[in-house]
Amino acid sequence: MGGYPEHARETGDGSDASTISAAAPAGVGLRFEVDGEIATVTLDRPDKRNAQTFATWSALARIGETLPEQVRVVVVRGEGPSFSAGIDLRMFTPEGVPGQESFASAAALADTEFEQRIAEAQKGFLWLRRPEIVSIAAVQGHAIGAGFQLALACDLRVVADDVKFCMKEPALGLVPDLTGTKPLADIVGVPRAIEMCLTARTVGAAEAVRLGLAEIAVPASELAQAVEDLAAALLGTDRAAAAATKRLLQAAPGRTLEEQAAAERAEQVVRIRALFGANG
Ligand code: ACO
Repeated sequence: MGGYPEHARETGDGSDASTISAAAPAGVGLRFEVDGEIATVTLDRPDKRNAQTFATWSALARIGETLPEQVRVVVVRGEGPSFSAGIDLRMFTPEGVPGQESFASAAALADTEFEQRIAEAQKGFLWLRRPEIVSIAAVQGHAIGAGFQLALACDLRVVADDVKFCMKEPALGLVPDLTGTKPLADIVGVPRAIEMCLTARTVGAAEAVRLGLAEIAVPASELAQAVEDLAAALLGTDRAAAAATKRLLQAAPGRTLEEQAAAERAEQVVRIRALFGANG
């Protein structure tokens, strides 16, 4: 929405593989660190269960725009007992969040302007799908509404055994609009997604793994290590081959077998030339 505060951070330029940490301006509640090929985005407002505002999404978008080139894995995590309790409920009040618009004031905007504001918020989520990176959500405790959608925006989810996913938007009169409906429907199927969203029920760790919403569930004390191990395993593959394979896999559901076979050929020609060609 309008009134975006200054973008949250300036960070590394990619020239330094050591840890780069930049403080976000007060109120945004986001940390960003780069350590070699791994970047970590931390929702850092644990006293408010990492509730998100438009400033959070603007800051996330800025991180995506300025992500150092060396980064291959992005971990998205939340400080404290919960990954994220979703949108900051002050957005529903007439006063809103200081420095940002409330839903009430945004409702007065023209349709195109209003949709543009939502598109800006969605930018904070969409970059996590880039083929050049693999994004991992490390999720403990509550992941409600925007919190669930942020986890869904990542390629992979590693969850603690106390995870509680809940798509609460319809219960509050809204739709999930932070890019979450497609990955949810793709992963669990349309009927299950309808059931989950329209009942706003909670999905725990065992069901999340069974439905494919999480790759693995571990005891909460082992969450960080499990994510670290997965990141290390992902970094073991060739960078260009990983990006090309992710491109293929992402496009596969929308293609016929013949189209996908053609896409595999095109990608492999590039790979084999790079590995064995005269200029490779
Ligand atoms: N927005 C703003 N503040 C929040 C939010 C939120 N979404 N969630 C929690 N907080 C604050 C609480 O007000 C409380 O603040 P206080 O200490 O100043 O009183 C603090 O975080 C801790 O919250 P508790 O409720 O005490 O923590 P608990 O662990 O018992 O419960 C839970 C956590 C279940 C997440 C609960 O806080 C909750 O239901 N929050 C609201 C969830 C919600 O409806 N989100 C919107 C979803 S829709 C969308 O995202 C678009």
